Amino acid sequence: MCLGTNGLNRKGKVIIMKIIVTGGAGFIGGNFVHYMLKAHPEYRIICLDCLTYAGNMETLAPVMDNPNFRFCKVDITDREAVFNVFEEEHPDIVVNFAAESHVDRSIENPGVFLNTNIIGTQVMMDACRKYGIQRYHQVSTDEVYGDLPLDRPDLFFTEETPIHTSSPYSASKASADLLVQAYHRTFGLPVTISRCSNNYGPYHFPEKLIPLMIANALNDKPLPVYGKGENVRDWLYVEDHCRAIDLIIHKGTVGEVYNIGGHNEMKNIDIVKIICKALDKPESLITYVADRKGHDMRYAIDPTKIHNELGWLPETKFADGIQKTIRWYLDNREWWEHIINGEYQDYYARMYGNR
Ligand code: NAD
Ligand code: DAU
Repeated sequence: MCLGTNGLNRKGKVIIMKIIVTGGAGFIGGNFVHYMLKAHPEYRIICLDCLTYAGNMETLAPVMDNPNFRFCKVDITDREAVFNVFEEEHPDIVVNFAAESHVDRSIENPGVFLNTNIIGTQVMMDACRKYGIQRYHQVSTDEVYGDLPLDRPDLFFTEETPIHTSSPYSASKASADLLVQAYHRTFGLPVTISRCSNNYGPYHFPEKLIPLMIANALNDKPLPVYGKGENVRDWLYVEDHCRAIDLIIHKGTVGEVYNIGGHNEMKNIDIVKIICKALDKPESLITYVADRKGHDMRYAIDPTKIHNELGWLPETKFADGIQKTIRWYLDNREWWEHIINGEYQDYYARMYGNR
């Protein structure tokens, strides 16, 4: 099922680039679709998404009438459906965001992570091989590097850090990265890979730390912090990630990996306290719960390469980004209330009920 135009822009403007964006109904993919349609009004964006629990058409509602946008409800593991879209569109670039992305769910049920994250990547690259492509870009994660110790603040993930995964999620993403590199070396597919740190911002599904804490705090519900809350994540505002990918697909060197991060390491507990303060909620809502199995301690990206080679730097400081994000959740209650009032309730009961 596809919605939107199938062909050239209705207004007769020349389309100079066609980009397939997979996973565009999710958090980062959705932000990327919005970003690209604004940044490149002469591009055509074709979104492929099968709308899992994490995919949300409300995220794409603001662009559904844009003549340069097309949505196709397609599972990236469905070879025939993917090839059909390539046959119709002959894209210049593919950016693969589609994935199962939540570590806790990968601990509960790894199988779907292997299928989407690895086989789905293979299908997308096979389509690129068959139809020809200027660039295949794989959206990966800093989690492929494993974690860093808390007592070595001098250590960072560089592109040379060995792959060393902890969860079924990160193992599936690392497998996909290896496959992407293999398709480059063996078949000459023009690929790039980006490995970004934790994102935050609008349209973030409320199973992840920041939106979950905002939604729970607004509903005066307990704020479940895993372990002692001392784990460190390196937070980046989602628009900065989108801008980095835009640069990589246009100016990045084929075959290369680029780390993306803004040197913004924070302990989970400090993030939760910032959210309490911003929403004027008591810290007594904070509840320490059983730790995540295999919980990575610290992530920290060294973004020197993307800065030196492509001139990328983050533009949004965390102090501003978190306020903008909280404001967005206050102004868009319907978006996340639809989610937490739906089937998500079953997941929440399973994940947090006996924790
Ligand atoms: P998300 O879970 O919010 O969205 C994933 C999207 O992919 C959803 O719209 C879902 O419907 C779609 N999808 C899932 N399986 C599919 C399939 N088989 N076929 C088609 N569509 C499918 O994820 P996100 O947080 O936006 O992450 C996007 C990408 O960025 C992922 O590859 C993730 O590994 C990577 N990443 C995420 C972060 C982060 O902080 N969220 C950081 C670095 C990298
Ligand atoms: O680093 C990039 C990764 O960031 C991406 O590859 C993943 O797709 C994305 O989900 C994210 O993974 P994390 O596991 O770091 O994100 P999450 O929001 O699930 O958790 C952030 C931290 O907060 C982590 O240390 C676990 C903790 N946490 C999380 C939840 C949901 C809690 O303490 N309580 C919670 O309820």
